Order: sequence, then structure tokens, then C-alpha cells
Amino acid sequence: MSNVTFKVQPNGTIKGRIRVPGDKSISHRSIMLGAIAEGTTTVTGFLEGDDSLATLKAFQDMGVEIDGPNNGRVTIKGVGLKGLKKPINPLDMGNSGTAMRLMAGILAGQDFDCELIGDASLSKRPMKRVTDPLRLMGAQIETADGGTPPLKITGTGSHSLKGIDYVLPMASAQVKSCVLLAGLYAEGTTSALEPAPTRDHTERMLNGFGYPVTSEKLDNQRMKACLQGGGRLTARHIDVPSDISSAAFFIAAATVSKDSDLVVEHVGMNPTRVGIIDILKLMGADIQLENVHEVGGEPVADVHVKYAPLKGIAIPESLVALAIDEFPVLFVVAATAEGQTILTGAEELRVKESDRIQVMADALQAVGIDAMPTKDGMVINGGKQTPQSSEIQSHHDHRISMAMTIAGLNAASEIVIDDCANVNTSFPTFIELINKVGMKVEVI
Ligand code: S3P
Repeated sequence: MSNVTFKVQPNGTIKGRIRVPGDKSISHRSIMLGAIAEGTTTVTGFLEGDDSLATLKAFQDMGVEIDGPNNGRVTIKGVGLKGLKKPINPLDMGNSGTAMRLMAGILAGQDFDCELIGDASLSKRPMKRVTDPLRLMGAQIETADGGTPPLKITGTGSHSLKGIDYVLPMASAQVKSCVLLAGLYAEGTTSALEPAPTRDHTERMLNGFGYPVTSEKLDNQRMKACLQGGGRLTARHIDVPSDISSAAFFIAAATVSKDSDLVVEHVGMNPTRVGIIDILKLMGADIQLENVHEVGGEPVADVHVKYAPLKGIAIPESLVALAIDEFPVLFVVAATAEGQTILTGAEELRVKESDRIQVMADALQAVGIDAMPTKDGMVINGGKQTPQSSEIQSHHDHRISMAMTIAGLNAASEIVIDDCANVNTSFPTFIELINKVGMKVEVI
């Protein structure tokens, strides 16, 4: 990856009507399920970012004929649950935890051996969370010492996996999805019980492909998803809505800068993803959802945001999993809000593309914000300081690059962010769009 630096000039107002690229989570799943379905799946709105392209390439390497992406259009000739071929080389998942963890579930059920590798950031991330349940199902998987990638998966041979009732130790859609996808290949019933609801795109999309998955709300927020092994998926069309996690940077920018008025169109509003909207509204944001409708089983809306003065809050822990990718930019917003914002119950942030608690606390302190990291969150005393000029490192994390760009909006002077090529993993058009709505960001 070549070195890319963002230079952000402070600037007041965010205005316009934009559309951000397709949802990353849904894009990954469209390729995975399309590949193991029977028939030809067509996708529109596919995210042409490095992460979802890594998934696309991996299935091509396993013999699946995939055309595109071409302006977000992809055609996948599904090979059925048992039709994947042994790849010649290790499958490179790049920076993508979603690709590696979900594909581990699918690959654990194949009769061939394979290896999954990743970049410097992914190679440090925990995989025990998926190898534990897969081993309970009878899969043979090796990791590096410490449970990190590469993952070496031995084919099942003539045995098949066995269904399990798995109680997830953490709220993770990746772990839940991995278990459910392995469950497609397992004998009997597989269930995944999560301590709090997480994004349910896998369950929705499996049902959309005609593969029944039940979801049941138990006591105290817990959710249980359940399926039977040995069924089949039938190809379909998938229209991928815009990614609320990408829209979040623009929603945040318009919320914190005076006189702003912005519409972000066709944003995915899945109830398991809208934590950012709920948290910002609790802080006093002016956000209206317009043109609410449904596209292929996923709710979408145009998000209309205007500037509003914000106040600090204690973020309800029930919203943490529903906004898990949005905390870097929410910390930036909290820095502008009057009073204290407290985040707790978010230790999962420490094992994302970077340790997002430490890296964001360091970055905010570097620009003069009163931000204190805690074991499972952050305490930010906002509204006191304007961000000061500084040079920030992204730590191989796209969302740090983009969140700190938004911090530059209200800064006293220029903020420089190093190592920003990673923005291409989820949002290749970020700079084009951020300049279009009124920011001044130069790419060097
Ligand atoms: C994702 C799940 C989340 C999220 C990630 C995408 C998914 O990870 O942070 O960006 O597509 O399932 P966890 O399941 O580890 O929380």
C-alpha cells in the first residue's frame, strides 16, 4: 500500500445531497451466499472496496465464476453448497476480519484443505473466537501461536460437521455468522446465542436465499439464531443499500458544523445498525429519516441532518453493539459536545482493525481534547477545546483515518493524518465526497 496522507483544513459548513457506497457487511455476504447458492445471483450497489473485493477474489480462487464489479453490479454463478474447489494458493483476506471469520465457517465444512492469510493488522486479530466453536463442531483448524492468523483448515474428508448450540462469549456478528455458516454444512441443528443483538444480515440474507433461519429474543436482550444443516440456497437478486457506517462520517460532520444541512440518500437502516442515530439523537442531534422504505429485506431511508448544539451523555450500553463501528467518529462528536460523554461496555473496540480505544484517545489527546481511555470505553470532556493542529497516525485503521478527518472540520488549524490508503478498504470515494459537501481535504 503506498503512503497516503490527508491534510485537513478547517472549514465551517457541510451541505448537499450525497450517496455513499454500498454496505460492507451486506456486500461480503452477497458474494459468500451467492457463491454457495444454486443458480445465478445478481448484485447491485456492491461495495468496490478492498475488503469486499478480497472476498470476491477468494471465491474466484475457489472456482466460482464471478463477473464484475462494474459500477456496483456483480453476477455470481453459484456452485451450490458442495461445489467450491480447492484453491491453489492461500486465500488473502487483506485487512478484513469479516471476510476471514465468516469464510472460516464456510471453509470448515469443505472436504479440501485451505489456508486463510491477512495483512499486518488482520494478522494480529483474535481468531480463537471462531476456532473455538468450529472445533466444537468437529472442524480441524490451526492458528499461529496466540490464536491469530493464518488459519489452516483441514478438509472434513468423509466426516461432516456436527451441529452445536453455541453460547457466544461476546456480542459479535462475525462469530454468530461463522457458526451459522458452518451450520449449513453440519448434521442437525446449529444455534448461536448472543449476549446482545448484533447485526443480523446473515440471518436475513439466508432467509432471502430460501434457507430458513429462526431468530428468537430471549430474556435480558439475548438473541438466539437457529438453522438446520443440509438445506440449499436458491440464487436471487440483492440490492445493497448504502453503508450506514460510511454515512456516519457525513452525519457526524453535518451535526457538528454550524449552518450545515445534508441529505445522505438510500442508507441501510437495519435496526441492528442504527445505534449511531439513536446515540446522536440522545446528544441532541437534528436528524430526520425521509423516504423510509424496504429494499430486498433491508430497511433504507434518506438521512437528513442539520447542525445542532450537542450535550455529552452516558451512552446506554444497550446501544453499543448497534453502533460498534461508529465509535471513532462518535468520540470526535463527543469532543464538540458540551459536558461529559462516557462510553462503557465497549471492550470489543480494543480488537478492531486497531485498538480503537487507545488509538482514538491518543489521537484526540494529540489535538488537545480531554479524552481518557478506560478498560472498556472512554470518558471525554467535550466542548472545552477546539482541536489543535497535529500529525496523527491511523494505525492501519480506515475508520481512524476518516474519524480524524472529521475532527479537522472544527480545528484551529490544519490536521495531518498519515497512512490513509486504508480508507480504500471500506470507502474508496471518501475524499471525493467529503470535498463535495464542503470540507477541504488534500491528499498527498
Ligand atoms: C461485522 C461485524 C462487526 C463489525 C465489522 C463487520 C460483520 O464485527 O465491527 O466491521 O459484517 O459481521 P464483530 O462481529 O467482531 O463485532
